[in-house]
Amino acid sequence: MLDELRQQLDGIVNDAIAAFADAADDDVLNQVKARFIGKSGAVTALMKQMRDLTPDERPAFGQAVNTAKQAVQQALDDRRAALRTEARAKELAEGGIDVTLPPPAVPRGALHPLRQTEARMLEVFAEMGYRVAWGPEVESDFHNFEALNFPPDHPARDMQDTFVVEDGRLLRTHTSPVQIRTMLANEPPIRIAAPGAVFRCDTLDMTHSPNFRQVEGLVVDRGITMAHLKGTLQTFASRLFGRSLDVRLRPSFFPFTEPSVEVDVTCPFCDSGCRVCSQSGWIEILGAGMVDPNVFEAVGIDPDVYSGFAFGIGVERVAMLTLGIDDIRHFYDNDLRFLAQFG
Ligand code: DAH
Repeated sequence: MLDELRQQLDGIVNDAIAAFADAADDDVLNQVKARFIGKSGAVTALMKQMRDLTPDERPAFGQAVNTAKQAVQQALDDRRAALRTEARAKELAEGGIDVTLPPPAVPRGALHPLRQTEARMLEVFAEMGYRVAWGPEVESDFHNFEALNFPPDHPARDMQDTFVVEDGRLLRTHTSPVQIRTMLANEPPIRIAAPGAVFRCDTLDMTHSPNFRQVEGLVVDRGITMAHLKGTLQTFASRLFGRSLDVRLRPSFFPFTEPSVEVDVTCPFCDSGCRVCSQSGWIEILGAGMVDPNVFEAVGIDPDVYSGFAFGIGVERVAMLTLGIDDIRHFYDNDLRFLAQFG
């Protein structure tokens, strides 16, 4: 009886090996496994005959059953491994994997268009011998207004609606306070370009933002005249726009300069009038002027010995002009579809 059962077990193992050999995927392998060594498989069925054996035959039969199960499991593992190797070899042979292909491109970041514009402006000033200067965004009333010749309660203060900080300081409304800090800390000759964020209590629209950027310029030395200012701005504008441009000065008012001017350049985008210059041939790019003697007094520089000019340029305005952007809000939306165009 025991021998007969052993033979049947051998038969089951051989049948299982043959069935595995015919199986070509995981599903079929699992089915075959269930058929032979699953809960209701052939081996389990055979074990029901245990009761026909004598008690001393039973351990030997139990051992034979285990060996048979292990053999079936081994055959399954071998077949699985073989199928995997076969599949890999086939894939390589068919060229499914080309190890010489370059990896997918990693998206690269780029400087924000405002940063690019500001960097270019500072580069032009650096070429002209200007040093970069910095000042704090949270300023004192003294640096932002008083020393710049805005008298207390003077309506000129309302030209720039101001965010005030709890301790009485304010968010600077322009980069002009860097002029004051620079003159307090340095003897002339002075020649600086000061970039940075400025803040005004304005409503965001196509052309205004409560937070924008400026580049401030200041030159102080003996014998500085308005001709130096005009020549400097003409050179700056020509280099910035990459084309020989003319400038014209129109009278204006700023408390910290006398005289004060608005500066226009000939339109860099046309010769005879276009949409950007509203057919006028001129574009306003900045405010400027000769440093007011009262400002020199406030920082302890003798206005009888020294003179100087100053100017302030809006970075957003320059970026909108050079990059052809019609709405300032694009700069702050951080929409990658917009930003990626300037990568
Ligand atoms: N601070 C002025 C503003 O924000 C711009 C400006 C005008 C700066 C004339 C200057 C200047 O240095 O001379 O509107």
